[in-house]
Amino acid sequence: MQTLVINASPFGRRGNTATVLSPFLDGMREAGGSIEIVPLDKLSIKPCRGDLSCWFKTGNVCVQQDDMVQLLPKFHDADIVVFSTPVYCDGVPGQLKIMMDRLVVMGIPFLEVRDGHSRHPLPPHEKMRKFVLVASCGLWEKDNFTPMVAHLQAFCRNTGYRFGGALLRPHSFAMKNRNINDILRAAKSAGREIFKNDTISPALQDAVSRIIVSREDYLESVNRKTSPYFT
Ligand SMILES: Cc1cc2nc3c(=O)[nH]c(=O)nc-3n(C[C@H](O)[C@H](O)[C@H](O)COP(=O)(O)O)c2cc1C
Repeated sequence: MQTLVINASPFGRRGNTATVLSPFLDGMREAGGSIEIVPLDKLSIKPCRGDLSCWFKTGNVCVQQDDMVQLLPKFHDADIVVFSTPVYCDGVPGQLKIMMDRLVVMGIPFLEVRDGHSRHPLPPHEKMRKFVLVASCGLWEKDNFTPMVAHLQAFCRNTGYRFGGALLRPHSFAMKNRNINDILRAAKSAGREIFKNDTISPALQDAVSRIIVSREDYLESVNRKTSPYFT
């Protein structure tokens, strides 16, 4: 089974999100999968021009010859797609959204009703891919992921990906210098689980998101560390 990981954090493997991503991928590797990680900030992907010439003129080929040319076949080949991303301004970072927009090149212009909703048909012979979101955010509450999760669930419904779950790590800075072995173990188990099943169990997803520190203590710690820069 082939997994494509789109890493949308500019900090890559050193980022907060990668703290959860790494054990998750270890679990997938243990289960026997092959994994390709694409660091999005190393790619040059221009915004969609919006004229849909890929649908109406060029036969599902984009006129923009940038790094999307190399990335698209990886989406075709993948059985599991993972977006690993920080929350930026309550959603996905701009670079990830630009890449998502450019996936429209693979679509079909017709409309149909699928799952009780108007959508573009899935390309024929398209395999059913699983999708997993791994995300971290700096604010304390888990509800800071709500807009991003709703967006990516909608994206999955429209692309035909099966949303397999979300490993969400709020108050991400609290992971530093604390014992979070249970969180890392849960992320690893989630990797093994998504390999075998269609979804990650809610218990494992909750374990990854567990409260590490009280809101009061988190704010106090962040404010103490940032105050030297604002005096
Ligand atoms: C431009 C920018 C916007 C951000 N917006 C949010 C936000 O809306 N909500 C939030 O909780 N954290 C926000 N953050 C914090 C990041 O989500 C958080 O630090 C995350 O853990 C970074 O992950 P990374 O180290 O993997 O890149 C923002 C950070 C940046 C740089």
